[in-house]
Amino acid sequence: MPAHDVLIIGAGLAGQRAALAAAQAGASVAIVSKVHPVRSHSVAAAGGINAAISVDDDWHSHAYDTVKGSDFLGDQDAIEIMCSEAPHEVMHLEHIGVTFHRNDKGELDLRAFGGASMKRTAYVADITGQAILHVLYEQLMKHHEQVERYEEWFVTSLLQDDSGRCCGVIARDVRSGRMEVLKAKNVILACGGAGQVYSPTTNALIVTGDGIAQAYRIGAPLMDMEMVQYHPTTLVENGILITEGARGEGATLLNSDGERFMEKYAPNKMELASRDVVSRAEQTEILEGRGVGPQKAGIYLDITKVPRKRTLEALREIVNIGKDFAGVDITREPIMIRPGAHYIMGGVKTDVNGATSVEGLYAAGEVACVSVHGGNRLGANSLLDTLIFGRRAGEHAAARATSMALPSASEARLGDDVAMIDAILARPRTGRRVSEIKGELGETMNKHVAVYRDEQGLQSAHEVVRRLKEEAKSAYVDDHGAVFNQDVLGAIELGYMLDCAEAIVVGAIERKESRGAQFRTDYPERNDEQWLKHIDITAGADGVGGVGGPRITYSPVTITQWQPEERKY
Ligand code: FUM
Repeated sequence: MPAHDVLIIGAGLAGQRAALAAAQAGASVAIVSKVHPVRSHSVAAAGGINAAISVDDDWHSHAYDTVKGSDFLGDQDAIEIMCSEAPHEVMHLEHIGVTFHRNDKGELDLRAFGGASMKRTAYVADITGQAILHVLYEQLMKHHEQVERYEEWFVTSLLQDDSGRCCGVIARDVRSGRMEVLKAKNVILACGGAGQVYSPTTNALIVTGDGIAQAYRIGAPLMDMEMVQYHPTTLVENGILITEGARGEGATLLNSDGERFMEKYAPNKMELASRDVVSRAEQTEILEGRGVGPQKAGIYLDITKVPRKRTLEALREIVNIGKDFAGVDITREPIMIRPGAHYIMGGVKTDVNGATSVEGLYAAGEVACVSVHGGNRLGANSLLDTLIFGRRAGEHAAARATSMALPSASEARLGDDVAMIDAILARPRTGRRVSEIKGELGETMNKHVAVYRDEQGLQSAHEVVRRLKEEAKSAYVDDHGAVFNQDVLGAIELGYMLDCAEAIVVGAIERKESRGAQFRTDYPERNDEQWLKHIDITAGADGVGGVGGPRITYSPVTITQWQPEERKY
């Protein structure tokens, strides 16, 4: 049975950064990833990474913008750490080979991004995540003697010893169907968010909330799950991301009257207000009949304002996306977009070193809630979050490993997970297909738990999610083989997504105010007196909705230097 000091689930930026840090600290490391690492969803991160590296910038300004962006729900101690460590992290990336864009003077160039008081986003065209991911992958190769890779292995459960400590995982080799126990002194969840709970979404098919649900199932609290970000610019037909970098370069938003409507909603920052503000403005224009396109369901993003040469150089990926997925040459005509599900600010509750309340279990990146994003994440703070807290989790877990023996992981649980998969394969074709249930879930969440929410819609979403949880128990699969059986893994992922969806809906019902990404039309004001607090959700038999449902508690928001104030852009 393989054993490691630090076992990391997920090989995107948080996972690879954690692995690099743990290996450099001398730990024996394993990375388990259900896809090949360079196909992790971090590869889709487009516009850039924030850091106060310009001579006239200061990390305090970055931190204040982040606190304000979070609608004062972010924990300021964690935000201070992230923003003060950002310049060093970005320079480190540069030194290990990330080819950030440079200006005419040869310095790192910075572009404007939403909610920021100055240009502070370093970038590699609009493929920043891909550029960083490949460099980290190469860097990890230097540590091949210390870092074992389980590429295309799917984790089915987190393991705990008798005292509740996390002591490894059960995983299935996707290529062969073989199941194994992988023992570890520490496990770091770095497997991303839960974007596939929504349809459409900017997120890859692999982003199914696995880590969030796995941690929840072994008793770790989730925090601020109701905070789901709708990105202002996603393609109307299919939800594909058009980077905020476009607006950073000067693109404008127009309604059916040709009006630059952001003037009404955010006169100072216009299209570069924070994402929650811009998405609500667009949705309001659409709801009030000023949308564009056949069903008036879109808004025009006009990138033709940006010089063509600059677009072809700095936004080349969305030039291709426009052509391939919307039939539009963005250098010559506006493209139709709308707000689309993009990112979950909530996740597994951690401290600033990534530690969860389950001993030996860490989380970093989108799977985690530290919380640096609070009610709304600023664009280009996500890559930063993955790297800063990935590194910190890797270092902390490696240090912890030096002072402990390997906990004992029981082989017996392996049999349970093998039986669980056999039972899925044996289901008769009388229920619904996994894909049908997933489709209904995504549409329901996008209808009722979106930019605007209210009690009635949220309650009906909750009813649907609970029914789907029942139906998922008999959802059948068509593929009964062992090799690359994505169908059976899809059934397990469906369970993870439904757990995440329930936590999102329950959190949204509970928070009776409007803050950040949660806008309740029945409670349209922010209410600091009652709701300046985190909503923590734990799996419990006494929870909302009966047996095994979520149990709600609260925890305080950490405020260091920025008192809540009215938020205007
Ligand atoms: O628009 C974008 O490039 C997305 C960036 C982000 O989510 O941080």
